[in-house]
Amino acid sequence: MDIEKELVKAAYEAQQYSYSPYSGFEVGVALLGKNGKIYRGCNIENAAYSPSNCAERTAFFKAVSEGCREFEAIAIVGNKKGERGDFCPPCGVCRQVMAEFCDPESFRVILGRSEEEYHSYFLKDLLPLGFGRALL
Ligand code: THU
Repeated sequence: MDIEKELVKAAYEAQQYSYSPYSGFEVGVALLGKNGKIYRGCNIENAAYSPSNCAERTAFFKAVSEGCREFEAIAIVGNKKGERGDFCPPCGVCRQVMAEFCDPESFRVILGRSEEEYHSYFLKDLLPLGFGRALL
């Protein structure tokens, strides 16, 4: 199977575990490490709201905490529970976390709205003029 299609399928698998009782918006991702592993993630909400975590950061933090710091691509899917999905672009905070660990020229962000319909972007096009370590 094409790797982008495989990642979108894995993102839908991860979406099943979304814990989103407050927004009802369920997000799932599949993050491909350069080690060949796929790290799945979902959004995890909290009654106090601000401790909530996006699906993308769940996957990045899982991967980094297991020793993986280099990545090829991430697939993202999201929709209101029970509704047909539209493309779900990552929030600005998650784009910044991607920029910490990914090469903006080659890291691909794949947005899916079904297992058949997805588009791929380079991180550099989603986070132009980002803040990075070179500035410190
Ligand atoms: N959400 C994500 O998981 N990823 C994003 O990039 C955007 C938003 C989650 C956060 C919250 O649980 C719900 O979607 C509605 O904002």
